[in-house]
Amino acid sequence: MAESNDYIVIKAKEDGVSVIGLTRGTDTRFHHSEKLDKGEMMIAQFTEHTSAIKIRGKALLQTAHGEMSSDE
Ligand code: TRP
Repeated sequence: MAESNDYIVIKAKEDGVSVIGLTRGTDTRFHHSEKLDKGEMMIAQFTEHTSAIKIRGKALLQTAHGEMSSDE
């Protein structure tokens, strides 16, 4: 199975942070875009439909690989 059960946590550090889901499979395209305002959080998984997540804007991320900030 390509996906794991791990969740990633995204906390927006500014208004208008985008969390974009990209499709799994031969065709890699955006399938979902979520806007977060400052302080809002999203908890997400990689799934059968989602193989990559793009984050645009300043956000704090927590994943199994550690904690990182998208503004550095
Ligand atoms: N319906 C999508 C899916 O199951 C929802 C989703 C899961 C998603 N993880 C995501 C959307 C990450 C955006 C970013 O794959």
